[in-house]
Amino acid sequence: MTQDELKALVGQAALQYVTPGTVVGVGTGSTVDKFIDALAASGLKIAGAVSSSVRSTERMKALGIAVLEAAEVPSLQVYIDGADEIDHRGHMIKGGGAALTREKIVADLAQTFVCIADESKLVSVLGRFPLPVEVIPMAAAQIARRFAAMGGDARLREGVVTDNGCQILDVRGLQITEPAAFEAEVNQWPGVVTVGVFARNKAQVCLLGTAQGVKTLKF
Ligand code: A5P
Repeated sequence: MTQDELKALVGQAALQYVTPGTVVGVGTGSTVDKFIDALAASGLKIAGAVSSSVRSTERMKALGIAVLEAAEVPSLQVYIDGADEIDHRGHMIKGGGAALTREKIVADLAQTFVCIADESKLVSVLGRFPLPVEVIPMAAAQIARRFAAMGGDARLREGVVTDNGCQILDVRGLQITEPAAFEAEVNQWPGVVTVGVFARNKAQVCLLGTAQGVKTLKF
């Protein structure tokens, strides 16, 4: 199966976590696009979706799925999103699509984070994928120096402005063995909007697309 087919498989499998009549949290990315398409085709009647990006909002609206503001929804049963990496405890790196801040905000509303990913995303230690960090532009150079002090090489993602008007640093060369401590530390550096480690808002379930079908991992 191609990677695209694996993404479609897990996008379809995520429908089992959608309860009719509820509001669903929806992430961002090519795997989530498959979930949005499957949701629209399923005929499942949901009360609406809270979206984590302009990209997902536009796709859902085009397919007739009502999109609600996060401020209107105090909690969500489920948040469905992809990941750039996920470890065996449900910690993730996210932000390859630059939507990490809104993703973390919507994930924080949800009781259950269901990660949908193809098997190439499963790792034993986070860090092979360059870590995205959303930053306030005037702080970018100082934040890059702080990463250099921990052995990371932080580069500005050229030509990218986030949905929040900020910039993205991509940090290579990190081995994130303690994701929760790392997230807490980096989050408090001045000028960091969001670090792309999702440990506090980790996945409870991962639907992993493999050549043998969908594997369900629970954390
Ligand atoms: C978006 O900012 C990311 O967090 C995505 O969730 C992540 O990059 C996964 O994207 P794909 O499903 O396109 O691999």
